[in-house]
Parts: sequence; structure tokens; C-alpha cells
Amino acid sequence: MTTESKNLTRLDWVIRNTRLLGAIGDEYDETQPFAGMRIATGIHLEPKTASLLLTLRRGGATVTATGNLNSTQTETTDFLSANGVTIVGHQTQDADVHRGFIRELVAGRPDLILDNGGELFSAYLETPYTGLLGGTEETTSGRMRLMPLRDQLQLPIYVINDSPIKQFAENLHAVGQSVFESFMRITNLSTNGKRVTVFGYGACGQGVAANFRAANSLVTVVESDPVRRLQALLDGFIITDRAEAISSADAIVTVTGAPSIVTAADLPLFRDGVILSNAGHFPREITPEIETSPEVVGVETFDSGMSGLHLTDGRIVNLINHGHMMNLSGQRPLGNSIESMDIGFALQARSLEYIATGSGRPTDSLVPVPRSIDASVANAFVALRTGAAPVEGKAEALTIAG
Ligand SMILES: NC(=O)c1ccc[n+]([C@@H]2O[C@H](COP(=O)([O-])OP(=O)(O)OC[C@H]3O[C@@H](n4cnc5c(N)ncnc54)[C@H](O)[C@@H]3O)[C@@H](O)[C@H]2O)c1
Repeated sequence: MTTESKNLTRLDWVIRNTRLLGAIGDEYDETQPFAGMRIATGIHLEPKTASLLLTLRRGGATVTATGNLNSTQTETTDFLSANGVTIVGHQTQDADVHRGFIRELVAGRPDLILDNGGELFSAYLETPYTGLLGGTEETTSGRMRLMPLRDQLQLPIYVINDSPIKQFAENLHAVGQSVFESFMRITNLSTNGKRVTVFGYGACGQGVAANFRAANSLVTVVESDPVRRLQALLDGFIITDRAEAISSADAIVTVTGAPSIVTAADLPLFRDGVILSNAGHFPREITPEIETSPEVVGVETFDSGMSGLHLTDGRIVNLINHGHMMNLSGQRPLGNSIESMDIGFALQARSLEYIATGSGRPTDSLVPVPRSIDASVANAFVALRTGAAPVEGKAEALTIAG
């Protein structure tokens, strides 16, 4: 017998391992919840989202998609086009060009919108039309942007990031792992016995701190909320003054969601060779001005995605990707784990299905995913992993510590 050999891509790997979406797709082949409907989305077009969009297509939807600003992967858009998803636009860093793509999507009068950052719903309000049933918003920042427009929207819109499942599956576990993976991938330095300072002890910071500790680092947490700081102490992390936390660190990770966490004023404090990195959404947690400070006399850029800032006194301060999110930085960035995205995207598919099948109410505008969906996705993932039967306890009990 001859052995058949095949060359496959990362897309094939991702689609095979988004098993929740695969199971939902199998169900949708039969149930066709989106039959005859148009779904428009503006979301990062990378392999994991491709799996989500193909699942929606299996549910009978006509899917039209554009990427987010500066994150569209051509390999993915080629794959989606070949598999029946209409791609609008292309990779761009130009915000005006990108807005044009968003308007083009909305001009197609979709029945459902899968938004990421509130862009499509905002564009819909510029030129409203009848027939939009509602949709989903992936992020907290999108919820905050759309909240002042809630009365105008009057549509069921579920915010995926507000699900407790998303909080612990992605923010707590997956961000911690991928930040650690990125630190290793980009620096190729050891973490054992090193002093690592994590700014922020929300769900993401808790995961980051835990992953470095698991890799034998001595982890200090700096947290401005007294209750979370106590939590970090009781979780066994080093708590000290901010200046000491900075001056003792071999590596610093900011993950607060707030600007100016580490600034040029901190330059005198850094150890020679310190590595600064950010995992928060916005690239201003480590202020960009740090690179143009008068104390910086030379800047080197490494092809691995780091800069070395040479200071007047000879010290070198290393910065990963100018303070942009480190787990989407450097060569071959992979982002968060496939399974964590599979869970979040299962929430997406089920929420859109909920609206498509008439269960969403206009008063459900910018609210968390219905608890029944949290429960069904949780049961489905546990069943896939362990074979355990579903439980029917109160889904309200789903909360995360902190
Ligand atoms: N990299 C990724 O893949 C990824 C994924 C999800 C979320 N995020 C981003 O990570 C950031 C944190 O998310 P989260 O869910 O943990 O948020 P969170 O709000 O739960 O936690 C942030 C913590 O930072 C603390 N903080 C704020 N200002 C501080 C300061 N000056 N010093 C010390 N601590 C301070 C807050 O008190 C809070 O406890 C956000 O920007 C979020 O968008 C990144």
C-alpha cells in the first residue's frame, strides 16, 4: 500500500482544530438558520476568523467581509474568496480607504452584522435601511463606541467580550500563553530566574503573570486597584513600589488598557538590557515618546521586531514592536490559541443564530451574550474535550474571580 502524502497550510490546521465551529457547521448543514440572509463583517481576516465565516456560510448565509485596519492576511482572503465569501477591499493602513470598505459592506444592506470595534453599526446609522435584524460586537471598545448610539440602534446586539467565558477562555488563559510565547519567539531569551514586572492584574494580567511564573520567573505585579493588588499578593506575586518594580525588572509587560503606564520619565530607572513590551490593546501603554527622548542617542531595529534604545550613559533599553501588542508582533505572529478563539467564535455563531431565528429583542442592544448561549457553548466544549454530559445548573453562576 502506498502512503498518501499531502502538503497542508496553517489554514487547514486552524480549520481542523476549531472543533466547536466544525460541530456547529455540521449542525448548520441541516438546520440552515441563515438561509437567504446576508451577513456582513469587518473583522481581522486571519485563519481563525476564516473558520467562523465558513461556518456561517454553512448555515445558509451569504457572507461579505472586510478586514480591520492593517490586519488583513492575503492568504486568508484568497482562501475565503475561493470558498464563497465575498471579500470587500484589501489590506490597508489608510483609515479613509478602510472606511470606504466599511461603507461598501453596509451599502449591501446586510440582514445581520458581525462587528469588531463598532465600525459597521456606526456606518449603518449614517445610512440606515429597513431589514437589519441586529448582530454582534466582538470588543469592549466597540461596545463603548456604540453605547451613546444605543437609542438610535434599537436592535439586538450581543457583546461577545462581555461573556464570562470570553473573559476566562481568552483574556485569562490565552493572552497569558500567547504573550509568553511571543516573548520567547521574539527575544529567544530565557525567563528562568529573571525578574518580570507585569503592570495590570485584570484577566489578561493575571494570565501573563501566571505564565511567566510557571516559567520560573520572579514576577512582580503593579496594580492601581487596591483590591486587585491584594489579589495579586494573595496569589503569591511580589508587590512593591512602582519605582522598585521598574528598576528591579529584567522584563516589563504592560497590560492595563490605560495610556502612559511606562514613560520616558522612567528611563533613569531601567536596568541595562531591560525588555519592555505591551499586551494591551492600544500602543500607548508604553509611550512612543520614549523612543524620541533626548536621553536616547541611538536606536537599532532588529528584524525580530525589537528596537534597542541606546541611552546617554551606555545602557540599552529594548522595546518590542514600538509598544504594539506583542502577541501580534514580530515574525509569524500567531495571536491567541485556536481553541480560545474557537470558543469565542462559537459564541459569535450562536448569537447570530439567536437573532436570525427571532429570539433577539430590540431591548437586547449592546448586552452580554444570552446566558443560555454561554451555557450551551460551555457544555459543548467540555463534551468535546472530555466526553462529559452537559450540566444544567444556573448559568448565572458563570463569573470569573477578579
Ligand atoms: N493582547 C491580546 O490578545 C488581548 C486580548 C484581550 C484583551 N487585551 C487588552 O488587554 C488590556 C487589559 O485587558 P483586561 O481584560 O485585563 O482589562 P481589565 O480592565 O480587566 O484589567 C486592567 C487592569 O489594569 C489596571 N490598571 C489600570 N491602570 C493602571 C496603572 N496605571 N498601573 C497599574 N495598573 C493599572 C486596572 O486597575 C485593571 O485591574 C486591554 O487593553 C484589552 O483590550 C489584549
